[in-house]
Amino acid sequence: MTRDHIVQETNRVREDWSRRGKHWDSRAEAVAETADRFNQPLIEAAGIESGQMVLDLATGAGEPGLTVAELVGPAGRVCATDLVPEMMAGAKRRAAERGLENIAFRDADMCALPDADDTFDRATCRFGLMFVPEPQRATAEVCRVLKPGGRAAFMVWGPREDTTMFTVFAETAKQIWGPDDPLIDFETMCSLGDEGSLAAALSAGGFANAEEKELRFTPKIPAEMEPWHAQIDMSLGPKLETVSAEERAAVEQAIRQGFARHLVDGRYHMNAHVRIGIGEKA
Ligand SMILES: C[S@@+](CC[C@H](N)C(=O)[O-])C[C@H]1O[C@@H](n2cnc3c(N)ncnc32)[C@H](O)[C@@H]1O
Repeated sequence: MTRDHIVQETNRVREDWSRRGKHWDSRAEAVAETADRFNQPLIEAAGIESGQMVLDLATGAGEPGLTVAELVGPAGRVCATDLVPEMMAGAKRRAAERGLENIAFRDADMCALPDADDTFDRATCRFGLMFVPEPQRATAEVCRVLKPGGRAAFMVWGPREDTTMFTVFAETAKQIWGPDDPLIDFETMCSLGDEGSLAAALSAGGFANAEEKELRFTPKIPAEMEPWHAQIDMSLGPKLETVSAEERAAVEQAIRQGFARHLVDGRYHMNAHVRIGIGEKA
């Protein structure tokens, strides 16, 4: 990939996420329980403990950075970073509301971190690495700023077809807006989802003992909760701002129909496949 191409792609990603910021902020509370289900194995994989200096990459609306700040306590510190300031606006507000004084927020591309070598004990990144045009540039940068013996854990989505929410959204978007609408770029979102891709990106960045864990969840959500509403705003918010109320209602109805085949005994069975890549700095 040429330098021009990397700059162009990073600008595209920045623009896309800046339009999503307010939608992610408004839905952060609604997805908190799901967020926690993803946080716990990531935090465990990173080996987060009280008193550590932790770098959270692609913090977005705040997780896992805020949870990690609570875990490391007053003797520890979290540096929460994201390429897109609009994504972190809500995270900053929530940190203040919770009285968290050990977390700082900084706009930063994970491929060009402003920190000195050997600064952090741990690094976490939830659902961010796949948006980087060349993931090994980010993993090399994260490896640089970790202390020797430090550890990083990156969480990404597995293949698209393994996550019910994605399959239904992809089908609906295709049905309503046609196959060429780049609204949700699942190719990028699931680009590190195949077994081995994440560990390879960590090894290429200089991490030792890179390993990968597969996690599959199938929460069964009561039908009346219609678990897709927050995701409609987070995934389709920028598009839905531009359409009529009738079109929005048609989208919601198509999504409801798409989920109908996942309804068993009054509950939606929501498969999800995520992967965690873990590496240590030698
Ligand atoms: C799917 S959101 C994840 C947010 C949060 N960690 C979570 O799990 O809810 C992806 C985030 O990656 C950020 N991002 C994309 N490319 C990035 C880069 N090169 N450096 C830092 N953050 C980036 C986006 O701005 C966005 O906030």
